[in-house]
Amino acid sequence: MGAQKSIQPLLILLLILMLLNGLSQLWAFPFSPSLDLDVTPRTTVFYKGMLGCNGFMGSSQNYSTLLLEEEAGRLYVGGRGALYALNTSNISTSANLTIDWNTTPEQKKQCLNKGRNNQTECYNHIRFLQRYNETHLYVCGTNAFRPLCAYIATEGFNFSSGFEEGRDRCPYDPAKGYTGLLIDGEMFTASQYEFRSSPDIRRNFPFPTLRTEEAPTRWLLEADFVGSVLLKESINSSIGDDDKIYFFFTERSQEQIAYPSQTKVSRVARVCKNDWGGQRTLQRKWTTFLKARMVCSVPEYELHLNILRDMFVLQGRDVQSSIFYGVFGLEWKNIKASAICQYAFSDVRRVFEGPYMEMQDSKWREYTGKVPEPRPGSCITDLHRSQGINSSRDLPDSVLTFARRHPLMAKQVHPIGLRTLMFKRSVNYVKIGVHKEPALDGNLYTVLFLGTDNGWLHRAVEVDGEMHIIEELQMFAKPQPIESMVISSVQRSIYIGSHSGVIQVPMSTCQRYTSCYECVFARDPFCGWDGRACVEISSRSQRSNLTQDISRGTRGCKENLGNVIHRRRAVMLGDDVLLQCELRSNLATPRWTLNGKELQGYGLNSGYRAGTDGLLIIGARTQQGGSYRCFAVENGVSVLVYLYTVKVHTDPYFPVEPTVTTEPTTVSSPVVLYTVSPTEQPLPSPPAPLPPGANFQTYRHMEAIYISLVAVLGGLCLVLTVVLLYVSFCTRRASQSRKFSHQNLTVLGASERKRSSHLELKTISSHCNGRQGRRSISVPTFGDFNDSFLQIIPDDDQMSPAKTPPPAPPLPNPPPLPNMDYANGLSATLPSVLRKMNGNSYVLLRQADPEGMSPLYHSFTEELNRILEKRKHTQLDMHPDESSI
Ligand SMILES: *[C@@H]1O[C@H](CO)[C@@H](O)[C@H](O)[C@H]1NC(C)=O
Ligand SMILES: *[C@@H]1O[C@H](CO)[C@@H](O)[C@H](O)[C@H]1NC(C)=O
Ligand SMILES: *[C@@H]1O[C@H](CO)[C@@H](O)[C@H](O)[C@H]1NC(C)=O
Ligand SMILES: *[C@@H]1O[C@H](CO)[C@@H](O)[C@H](O)[C@H]1NC(C)=O
Ligand SMILES: *[C@@H]1O[C@H](CO)[C@@H](O)[C@H](O)[C@H]1NC(C)=O
Ligand SMILES: *[C@@H]1O[C@H](CO)[C@@H](O)[C@H](O)[C@H]1NC(C)=O
Repeated sequence: MGAQKSIQPLLILLLILMLLNGLSQLWAFPFSPSLDLDVTPRTTVFYKGMLGCNGFMGSSQNYSTLLLEEEAGRLYVGGRGALYALNTSNISTSANLTIDWNTTPEQKKQCLNKGRNNQTECYNHIRFLQRYNETHLYVCGTNAFRPLCAYIATEGFNFSSGFEEGRDRCPYDPAKGYTGLLIDGEMFTASQYEFRSSPDIRRNFPFPTLRTEEAPTRWLLEADFVGSVLLKESINSSIGDDDKIYFFFTERSQEQIAYPSQTKVSRVARVCKNDWGGQRTLQRKWTTFLKARMVCSVPEYELHLNILRDMFVLQGRDVQSSIFYGVFGLEWKNIKASAICQYAFSDVRRVFEGPYMEMQDSKWREYTGKVPEPRPGSCITDLHRSQGINSSRDLPDSVLTFARRHPLMAKQVHPIGLRTLMFKRSVNYVKIGVHKEPALDGNLYTVLFLGTDNGWLHRAVEVDGEMHIIEELQMFAKPQPIESMVISSVQRSIYIGSHSGVIQVPMSTCQRYTSCYECVFARDPFCGWDGRACVEISSRSQRSNLTQDISRGTRGCKENLGNVIHRRRAVMLGDDVLLQCELRSNLATPRWTLNGKELQGYGLNSGYRAGTDGLLIIGARTQQGGSYRCFAVENGVSVLVYLYTVKVHTDPYFPVEPTVTTEPTTVSSPVVLYTVSPTEQPLPSPPAPLPPGANFQTYRHMEAIYISLVAVLGGLCLVLTVVLLYVSFCTRRASQSRKFSHQNLTVLGASERKRSSHLELKTISSHCNGRQGRRSISVPTFGDFNDSFLQIIPDDDQMSPAKTPPPAPPLPNPPPLPNMDYANGLSATLPSVLRKMNGNSYVLLRQADPEGMSPLYHSFTEELNRILEKRKHTQLDMHPDESSI
């Protein structure tokens, strides 16, 4: 009965959680879920389960700059106060070369005196690292707010000269967006260089240096650069006179845009490599600068992802077939979401060849007048030279004046197929790499490597225009953003730089799939089943005996080749037992049979609960004994994974202590552990189609909701804090409650979600009384309350390397997730948990059902009491049941 007392504060919490979750439903618009667009990674590999990785940790941190030279077998790394030359075949090998390049103590002092952050800013962060000529690299560092550059001789790996002033080449701020290229001895960079200076795209050398124009029209407005690329567009030219450099960034929008709640736009800009500036007009300024808007949106949900986070340019056999892959996010920093859009180079070029914008009456409008010749923005080629224009300095004044006032194109660059390639809620991708891999079916598949802001890598493959995330890999034990990423096709590795180190990850790890089905279901273009093991296809010259099915992920395996695990369970009449069935795949659902007959409907009176990690038999009856089979159903194929023989004992040989409660245990409805089914949870309806022109109001409306919700949630958080303080003072379980602090609940949220270790499953015995070992009788108990959901704790220590809390019962359709995850909202925890369980599993809370509240609490208490009774009973049991065999 004492237990009941300590439960009360928890109930108050539940109430608040419920309220918040109900509120968050209001929030759903316009982020109503689209299951098609929210791709679930097939498997989740935690840090401990990673295979074949090599790590490099030098004495410094912030390994933000990588330069890969495949032929030389070198990976150059720029960190904080140091440079490294690593061996690409194994970056862990000890014979690595290092250059220490720290800020002088005087400079550091000056930096501190300027009020800069002594933890992050007053160091020498290497920001630029590229090849200069055959023998030398060129490097720039922030040098505690006083940038310097230098040459490094690659042989011997040391500075070959003194330092150069880096002020115009490298930003002061280590965190500012920055991109740069060194091409044929010419250095092109883009950033906001000095403290509070305006952004600029520059050619730093050779002379004359070129910049963007600031008056009368600012060409760039608070631009945040993410990347740049040289595209050699010249045809039949030995001097590459039509080659251009493309820059990718997000900036404040100057033009009128349709979505008033947004202030930023994603852009692509370009300049000609052979630009030399104008003679009088645009002197030492670009004469060829043009920029255009890049659009990436989910039209069905009126979601416009306007922040460009990274760009990868996949160059085809010729430049014309290049494809740009962009990672986009939302302007609202507290909402995690990412979209990948791909753009054809031809579409980009068409926009730059189309109409210009012009400022008229302080508004940007499409310019419809006459365009001077040669067309502004085009590079000087043989054609122009034949007309007597030898360089940009010979351009007529009319062209230069026009170029100065018309930096923006009227048309927007739309993605291929006018749609996003992939949309992902609750994840912030920050880096992207793209690789083409030939599969057994003869097709070339596009594989995306996506790095997140909390240290995960997603591997995804494009199949018929849809993205399939093969797996998500946890790269670092401690969550940290992935800062840089390069792909080596030669080493078949990805190199990832972050705050704490550099990791070399193999492009594929086929040996992780231990059966034919897993190998085929994965739809991994790198992997095939050879009859005994899942192997890297590239490692085999003889491929005819390999099995792979990328397009459907079902075909090629013979029946029942899964690794079936056979177990026995004995249970006392009336006790509970969990039959564990962990599915490695997040896309699989379990299916249970008893003595060959399908178990259907896990309703409250069925005596069963199906959950994320198994089947719970509640209050075992004799007719519930028999042979249970658990199948993993994926892509429509059932694969047997577990076989249980369950024996229900009535034997008095098992001494049973009389329970305290004399009343017969009513088949209470343990709402706490209830299976969400489509009927129980109202499906959020998709947003009603809006009349054209309604966007404006919609967004106004939404903004209002947003603000009011933030206010309400803030208030509730305050209340929650008070309650939590109360909880931590008043419960006997004070030590446990501390974990349950305000911060955990409000801040943890989606960003930590399943990544944090609190999802680790523990056995009840070890959890409660420190005894190790597997026991067969187990009862549902509370995991960590951090999660604010209940979870069955498996009674088995076995953990697969790719530990995945698997999804749930074979209900026809998992209900759509009710709302968006936001990183700082309390409600964020629930959707992320739901996602992990693929919709239908144990959910602590009903979705805002005021009438259901008191019965819920009632049965919650009841259930808890029952559990505690059972646990006591289990502990007293002198003869623990035989365990798994
Ligand atoms: C890298 O290591 C491999 C094997 O350890 C070695 O053969 C190769 O020469 C090394 N490369 C360089 C550039 O040191
Ligand atoms: C890389 O080198 C390290 C240190 O020498 C070694 O422990 C590791 O096994 C190597 N990795 C591979 C994949 O060979
Ligand atoms: C940074 O400044 C804080 C307080 O101003 C001081 O306690 C800390 O030791 C400093 N850290 C370093 C690395 O200088
Ligand atoms: C490369 O550049 C460095 C620095 O300017 C110079 O010392 C060196 O001679 C150059 N090497 C070649 C091969 O041109
Ligand atoms: C361009 O170069 C050609 C040949 O070098 C020369 O004859 C011509 O005068 C130059 N044109 C201008 C405008 O400088
Ligand atoms: C450098 O790494 C530390 C953590 O090690 C992080 O707090 C800091 O933000 C990083 N600085 C930059 C500029 O990325």
